[in-house]
Amino acid sequence: MASNSKTLAFEEVAKHNHKNDCWIIVHGKVYEVTPVLDDHPGGDEVLLTATEKDATIDFEDVGHSDSAIEMMEKYFIGKVDTCTLPAKAIHSPPPPTQAHNVAYQSSPFVVKMLQFVLPLFILAIAFALQHYGKKKQASTS
Ligand code: HEM
Repeated sequence: MASNSKTLAFEEVAKHNHKNDCWIIVHGKVYEVTPVLDDHPGGDEVLLTATEKDATIDFEDVGHSDSAIEMMEKYFIGKVDTCTLPAKAIHSPPPPTQAHNVAYQSSPFVVKMLQFVLPLFILAIAFALQHYGKKKQASTS
């Protein structure tokens, strides 16, 4: 990898989004993957859909091997100017809305409480029945 690598604006990188000219961004680095398209074990389609965005998470999700990561260096052409990355190009899950937040937080809590309270409740009923049974037996004998 050249130490004096060039810095490319996101808009410039995003233009290279087709089969004959395909650039991707992974970990802030730009790779020209056109020569890999036909031989890429994950297929060319995944690489084409990884254009016009920060493909870091997509790349990491696959869990590429060390040899795949080594191989990438051959296709390195520069760094992306991170200031030019639009928010939607940065792959991050959308933040949950307030309503969702409450739902996601409260339901596991309720389940945990039920898991704890329900056995106690059943135990209390069993004791009560046993107590009631003994009392009844005593009164009949
Ligand atoms: C220069 C960039 C890339 C290179 C050199 C590369 C190389 C490779 C190699 C060698 C493999 C075989 C498995 C391994 O050794 O890990 C692979 C699998 C794969 N790659 Fe990439 N890859 C690149 C970028 C990407 C990107 C950006 C994606 C986007 C999602 C992607 C998706 C996949 C998928 C889905 C597989 C198949 C995994 C499987 O079937 O188990 N790759 N890649």
